[in-house]
Amino acid sequence: MKLCMIGTGYVGLVSGVCFSDLGNDVICVDHDKKKVEELKKGIIPIYEPGLDELVLKNYKNKRLKFSTNLKDSISKSDIIFICVGTPTNKNGNGADLKQIYNVAKQIRNSISKFKIIITKSTVPVTTGDEIEKIISLKVPKKFFSVVSNPEFLREGEAIRDFTYPDRVVIGTKDIKSNKILKNLYSPLISKGAKYVNTSRRAAELIKYASNAFLATKITFVNELANFCEKIDVDIEDISIGMGLDKRIGGRFLRAGPAYGGSCFPKDTKAIVTTAKKFKTNLSVIKSVIKSNENRSSLLLKRIFDILKGKIKNKKICFLGVTFKANTDDMRDSSSLSMIPSLIKKGAQVNYFDPTGEKAIFKKFKNVSFSNNINSAIKESDLIIIHTEWNDFKSIDFKKEVKNKKFIIFDMRNIYSSVKMKELKIKYFGVGS
Ligand SMILES: NC(=O)c1ccc[n+]([C@@H]2O[C@H](COP(=O)([O-])OP(=O)(O)OC[C@H]3O[C@@H](n4cnc5c(N)ncnc54)[C@H](O)[C@@H]3O)[C@@H](O)[C@H]2O)c1
Repeated sequence: MKLCMIGTGYVGLVSGVCFSDLGNDVICVDHDKKKVEELKKGIIPIYEPGLDELVLKNYKNKRLKFSTNLKDSISKSDIIFICVGTPTNKNGNGADLKQIYNVAKQIRNSISKFKIIITKSTVPVTTGDEIEKIISLKVPKKFFSVVSNPEFLREGEAIRDFTYPDRVVIGTKDIKSNKILKNLYSPLISKGAKYVNTSRRAAELIKYASNAFLATKITFVNELANFCEKIDVDIEDISIGMGLDKRIGGRFLRAGPAYGGSCFPKDTKAIVTTAKKFKTNLSVIKSVIKSNENRSSLLLKRIFDILKGKIKNKKICFLGVTFKANTDDMRDSSSLSMIPSLIKKGAQVNYFDPTGEKAIFKKFKNVSFSNNINSAIKESDLIIIHTEWNDFKSIDFKKEVKNKKFIIFDMRNIYSSVKMKELKIKYFGVGS
């Protein structure tokens, strides 16, 4: 099939490449000229394991193309996927749909035969209705069908998640579009993905409801971790004991820093805002947002307690600064609030991240980047394991850290506190 992905970010690029790998002709369009030029040269704008080889392979065999020309790309395609950003509105908590509606206006000027227009971006319920209205101002309804097909991939696991999804959700009541899309996804369905055909509004809400539920699970266990710290109980035992119940499940049930990233923070806020528009109070999600916003301050307080309030001139090392492992995405990472707060109190922060130095921290005088783990931790008073990269799982701290009084605060509970005690390392985990 001939596909056009509008927006070549995490979702558009990964799904475009994977669709091309399944044998479709795909044009990935972006209005960012530099990004498109670099992609044509094989330079991948994001860190995502396995993505570069797959881009190169499909670009070489010409099933994958990159372009800045939206009109031309739409006219050459049968199915158009909208994959642009839907960040939080600057003046509120709802989703900013400017990028979506701009694209809808561009699409309506480029349709001359039947097209399926899909929102793969995460959009509030009723956005599809709005897109349909915008396009129908210029294009007769028989020439297009607006469908919701939310994406559930996770950064860091994006190719696997796209190729082996738990489910493919298609929100449309249009029989023709449903048939075409079931066919497009048939290679994934035959590998076990469940195909769910719903109304367009239901598909839009399934995405938000899923993200809000996962955010709730994380926040639930994070709050329990706070409780465990007070009663000499290890949260890891609680997570295992609860997670083995099939009705609960062990995933997203591990205590750690506040949830971050490009989805959960914005999507939890957006669903609450949309529900409010429809006079519905989503009080559970509201309290999740509040609890998560408070999480970084709680962990900062823990750092102060660990250092007995003596932060000034302390050398604090962050291992990992992105919101999770296997991604370079810094959006809403808890390190963005924790590091500036620590330097404000007089600490000197040094960090290592496997995806390299981050532009956002360059503006701080007391924040430096080390390009390997050993030099990052060497002089530290306190080492904070902030993300769960495999690279951080077997460090010989005793050998590498010069300062023999160093302390570890493991925000991901990677290491065993018992082993650390045996090694006589001062070690703190989360929720114990
Ligand atoms: N990142 C994830 O893990 C993830 C997972 C599932 C769903 N989503 C959703 O998918 C959507 C996209 O997220 P992302 O992380 O890929 O965003 P992103 O910011 O990485 O990429 C969006 C891209 O769209 C481009 N763009 C914007 N307007 C355009 C236009 N008019 N024409 C052409 N290109 C345009 C931008 O230049 C950018 O490259 C969001 O709604 C997000 O919530 C993201």
